[in-house]
Amino acid sequence: RKIVLAYSGGLDTSVILRWLKETYQCPVVAYCADIGQKEDWEAIKQKGLATGAEEVIIRDLKEEFVADFVFTALKANVIYEGGYLLGTSLARPLIAREQIAVAKEVGADAVAHGATGKGNDQVRFELTYMALAPEISIIAPWRQWPFKGREDLINYAQRHGIPVPVTKEKPYSMDANLFHISYEGGILEDPWTEPPEDMFQMTVSPEKAPDSPEYLEIDFENGIPVAINGEGLSPARLLARVNEIAGRHGIGRIDMVENRFVGIKSRGVYETPGGTLLHLAHRALEHLTMDREVMHLRDSLVPRLAELIYYGFWYSPEMETLRAFVEETQKGITGCVRLKLYKGSAWVVGRRAPRSLYLPELATFEADTLYNQKDAEGFIRLQGLRLKVQAMVRRRQTL
Ligand code: ARG
Ligand code: SIN
Repeated sequence: RKIVLAYSGGLDTSVILRWLKETYQCPVVAYCADIGQKEDWEAIKQKGLATGAEEVIIRDLKEEFVADFVFTALKANVIYEGGYLLGTSLARPLIAREQIAVAKEVGADAVAHGATGKGNDQVRFELTYMALAPEISIIAPWRQWPFKGREDLINYAQRHGIPVPVTKEKPYSMDANLFHISYEGGILEDPWTEPPEDMFQMTVSPEKAPDSPEYLEIDFENGIPVAINGEGLSPARLLARVNEIAGRHGIGRIDMVENRFVGIKSRGVYETPGGTLLHLAHRALEHLTMDREVMHLRDSLVPRLAELIYYGFWYSPEMETLRAFVEETQKGITGCVRLKLYKGSAWVVGRRAPRSLYLPELATFEADTLYNQKDAEGFIRLQGLRLKVQAMVRRRQTL
């Protein structure tokens, strides 16, 4: 037996690393995914080895994360329950997919993760494992060991000489990547309590944002953002750049209570600065270039897509089908959007596209040749026909 653990270097996965080794009496490989969270990877590597890992494997997945996961969600304007841009949900399938690849490379027959038994992440990790490696054994220590909470973990760590972070632990749980940071638990569990200002790491508070607005131009090609203010950038670099700009204007904070897949309501606070701007701009470009019926059909599927991603079904036949549909809708979503940013808000102030479907000569109230106002008469008369029938029948019944 050999286990690959999804390792972050924090207290939980450090304890898990040692616990796995003791419980299963086998080598454990610590695997870290770099998806843009700011970490000292060399320190994590040393810590993993000191805690007992046979090997620490770090994979840089930043470009792939943005290109294949974040931008796929962006192309469909996916939002969960009206607020959450799915920053954690999108990262889990990629982390788990690469973990399976690592397991194959090192000849492991089991994978383990540090998600608790009460959350969404366990589902996302394990559905991905099952879809990509049906034969692999899955170990979820939080559902198996006797430890109940932090206290137990700290005791175990001290007994086994695992370094416990000396810095004061934050009074909430965080999950960070290039797209977002999520905060939940601890002091955030009371949904009436406002988050402390010093919690936020990607955005300044709108009150502290500059007193003058900033303009920003985003170019898209077939639904994908490719340039900022005229400068072409790779997906990860582009997202980092938009994060910076949106962050200094305090854009992209969301505070909501959401439905977890397991049936629990949970309070989450998110900052998704760049993602918020990209969503706004992408939608504005679609307004200019996308056919009405295609848009409305796609919009009707957004809640379904959001559910699939949130629940952890990234690798599923229904997701594959929907992705092909989304790709098709993005052909021709090419052009530029101009945004104005000011103290926590962003507005679309301009848009242009080579294949814009917006024809000023058609929209104008001045005389034109394409549209005959007389046509509207019959159009409305037939649209209203069944309404008239309803009204007439109802009137007859009450007579
Ligand atoms: N509630 C969000 C989600 O389910 C964020 C989860 C954060 N995960 C974490 N391990 N802190 O996607
Ligand atoms: C966890 O329970 O491990 C984090 C929160 C979640 O997965 O929803």
